[in-house]
Amino acid sequence: MSNSTFRTAVIHTPGGPDSIDIIEVPVTEPGRGEVRVAVAAATVNPVDVAVANGVFHAIGAVQQPKHTGLGWDFSGTIVAAGPGVDLAPGTRVAGLIGGVDRDFGTYAEQLVVAVADVAVVPDGLDLVDAATVPLNGQTAIQIVELLGRAPDGGNRLLVTGAAGAVGGYILAFAQNSGWRVTGLARPEDEEFVRALGADLVTDTTPGWDAVADTATLQGEALELVRDGGIFVGVLPEDVPAPIRGIRTGAIMAHPDGAKLAELLARTASGELPARVHSVVPLDRVVDAHKTVAKGGVRGRYVITP
Ligand SMILES: NC(=O)c1ccc[n+]([C@@H]2O[C@H](COP(=O)([O-])OP(=O)(O)OC[C@H]3O[C@@H](n4cnc5c(N)ncnc54)[C@H](OP(=O)(O)O)[C@@H]3O)[C@@H](O)[C@H]2O)c1
Repeated sequence: MSNSTFRTAVIHTPGGPDSIDIIEVPVTEPGRGEVRVAVAAATVNPVDVAVANGVFHAIGAVQQPKHTGLGWDFSGTIVAAGPGVDLAPGTRVAGLIGGVDRDFGTYAEQLVVAVADVAVVPDGLDLVDAATVPLNGQTAIQIVELLGRAPDGGNRLLVTGAAGAVGGYILAFAQNSGWRVTGLARPEDEEFVRALGADLVTDTTPGWDAVADTATLQGEALELVRDGGIFVGVLPEDVPAPIRGIRTGAIMAHPDGAKLAELLARTASGELPARVHSVVPLDRVVDAHKTVAKGGVRGRYVITP
């Protein structure tokens, strides 16, 4: 990195992990309501693997003329603040940038982002741990909001992919909305699922009042919902058509600095787990993507540029 450029990982032509390129791009100054952050940590999420594989290019959801940015959540330190920002340089923050159609991402040494989308990282919370929170914590909050309060007499919620990053948070949050939560996970995930106060199933059985489908089983998961129940998915571009009176929907994660601040505080206190698999430098991002793409990883790969 020079004073005028910084390194970032992008996709020019999608084709899997080996199509990730690390390039130098010009530093930009923050505008009104924006901050420039020196990124300390960014996580590898399944959506980044899908972007590198060209999943979103193939359906026309990415229209970038030059290159596509990778990375959704980050933590770091503010190095410059635009007009109208009351956070000073030196403040530690974390945040989320959403959407797949953008030329920049959080796999980068620097990032310019709206201050409304970040939250201050509490003292005592490590920046690597903080980077694991924004995308999946906020996604889980939005899923639980879409599920709504559990109806009287019909509060059995199945969370598929319960040992995953989003699924784990849903286990923790949905109980506060009156749901009796069961996680569908691998047998080896039993301790994790039960520690969050949920029951475990390792096979799909039907008859649930609601299913939150973070394992993207889609039609198979819809079949598990009772007549008139609720299905909430994580693929907004592929929401199953309603059947048997089931309400179907999906969320698209969006940043919310205020909610993120609460999540970070609950992580700092130890109430919510910060799940880190490995910490790797930006130069090893291709290896991280290859491992995540195979499945079976618990906790996030965290990239430190
Ligand atoms: N729409 C949005 O805004 C949004 C936001 C965040 C995430 N997402 C999507 O949500 C999904 C989950 O994300 P994540 O970060 O939680 O992924 P993750 O950490 O990889 O978790 C997925 C979990 O599902 C498990 N799984 C898959 N098939 C299963 C099955 N048949 N039975 C039991 N467990 C199964 C996986 O286990 P194994 O590893 O053992 O296979 C893994 O533990 C991804 O597709 C992601 O792209 C969407």
